[in-house]
Amino acid sequence: ERVIVLAGGMSYEREVSLSSGRRVADALKSAGFQVEIREADSGLLPLLAEDPPDLVFPVLHGAEGEDGSIREVLDLLGIPYVGARPDACRLAWDKPTAKAIVRAAGLETPESVTLPKEVFHDLGASAVLDAIVAKLGMPLFVKPTRGGSALGASLVKEASDLPAAMVGCFSYGDVALIERFITGTEVAVGVVEVDGVPTALPAVEIIPMGERYDYTARYTAGQTEFVTPARLTTEAAERARDAALTAHRALGLRHLSRTDLIVTPDGTPYLLEVNVAPGMTETSLLPLALQAAHLTIPQLLPAIP
Ligand code: DAL
Ligand code: MG
Repeated sequence: ERVIVLAGGMSYEREVSLSSGRRVADALKSAGFQVEIREADSGLLPLLAEDPPDLVFPVLHGAEGEDGSIREVLDLLGIPYVGARPDACRLAWDKPTAKAIVRAAGLETPESVTLPKEVFHDLGASAVLDAIVAKLGMPLFVKPTRGGSALGASLVKEASDLPAAMVGCFSYGDVALIERFITGTEVAVGVVEVDGVPTALPAVEIIPMGERYDYTARYTAGQTEFVTPARLTTEAAERARDAALTAHRALGLRHLSRTDLIVTPDGTPYLLEVNVAPGMTETSLLPLALQAAHLTIPQLLPAIP
């Protein structure tokens, strides 16, 4: 069977996607698939229309990969693909929307406010930031509402650091999500479908060598220690995996997802976000979780009609 892996793109996560794409393509080739890696550029549409593959594996990160737009094209052409449908992608990609949905499904997620760039500038930084600090307290975590790989994200420990964090955030997105910072164990839980049934993989614990799991810590070998399964009590680990499954279902996702959580010392999982196109690089979380569960990337593929 012929599979096209979509990788690259014009987002800030282009390099990450290329690296994820190579890893996925290699794994599929080893399993005997005929694989091509393609950019999602203007040449893609005619190529897919003229010579449709049996399956597409979108490994695009950032807007075009995670907001559902490319998948709409695939739906239009009737080409099957790995991962969530466009509607579900849109819900997951916008972090405040995803937070509202999972909260309605009974999960905890850090209390937060959103702040568009224009409002920040119009109201004057200090008045609006004072109001946010009064509401959420300290420390805070600031990130773009739509984005990935911790780009534009920062931990704010002092109110005086907030303006700089906002400026950093607005260089990667037009709307900021400002969350109360939750202290605990940072874990990622992959959900994959085994024989069509969504199944939560073992939680992977993230221990950055530096202060934070930032872009460098994510993609430089040796900069982060991963412990799989995470060092949580049996009950806390179960709650984290249940939370990922609940999020996967509540957002209407399909085939694979990765939910990032902070588990507090009392074992409560706080959902940070859900990824519809999780990183598949050599240092990424989902491949580690698959390995721990004795699963391989080719096993994630849906049945090819
Ligand atoms: N946004 C990156 C690729 C991730 O979530 O793994
Ligand atoms: Mg993400």
